Amino acid sequence: MMTNHFFKTMAGICVAVICVGMLLSGNTMAAEGDSPFMELAKKRFSVRQFADKPVPKDLLIKVLEAGNVAPTAKNLQPHRIHVLTKAEDIAKLDELSPCRYGAPVVLVFSYNTEEDWKHGEEPGVRSGVEDVSIVATHVMLRAAELGLGTTWVNRFRNSQLEKALLPANEKAVLIMPIGFPAENAKPSRMHTTKKPLDKTVIWH
Ligand SMILES: Cc1cc2nc3c(=O)[nH]c(=O)nc-3n(C[C@H](O)[C@H](O)[C@H](O)COP(=O)(O)O)c2cc1C
Repeated sequence: MMTNHFFKTMAGICVAVICVGMLLSGNTMAAEGDSPFMELAKKRFSVRQFADKPVPKDLLIKVLEAGNVAPTAKNLQPHRIHVLTKAEDIAKLDELSPCRYGAPVVLVFSYNTEEDWKHGEEPGVRSGVEDVSIVATHVMLRAAELGLGTTWVNRFRNSQLEKALLPANEKAVLIMPIGFPAENAKPSRMHTTKKPLDKTVIWH
């Protein structure tokens, strides 16, 4: 009788612990049967602590090649990726954003305003930001696959950065610190706080 009660209590505690765990970790928790893509998508998180270690150029090229196979509107490929590694460029960037987090390399993603797709019937509708976003997403996921950390950063002084680092016909969309994660790098709470699907997906 006593043993029965003990087991029921223990089972209750276990269920409660599992439920709280699931609640806290949202749907970014690895699950049995996840495909390699889902494993990667869940494994990636914004890295905000980087190791003091350079990134070999051939590894950067592998990462950048993933951006090159991304789709863009009408395949116009208006995106540009500026790879900042020199101390003077990094110092300049640090004046324009607080979000480098000590990464040895920063990628500046922009698009050429003469090359992106423009909607003929909807003035102002153009594809530059969308094109760059999908390219950057490919890059971010490939970096994670190769053991590198990244963070997507839009907190920077756009106009100043464009003036300092880009040709006149480019608009900056995001910057992305990239490097080997520090040993203590871990996901922020935001990584696991996801709305349930029925709050973001509307079936019509
Ligand atoms: C459009 C966009 C802008 C972001 N800007 C910043 C930023 O300026 N600084 C920063 O530290 N993180 C930035 N992030 C990272 C988000 O905070 C992060 O992706 C989100 O909290 C989920 O966490 P996770 O990437 O670890 O899964 C940005 C992400 C996106 C998609």
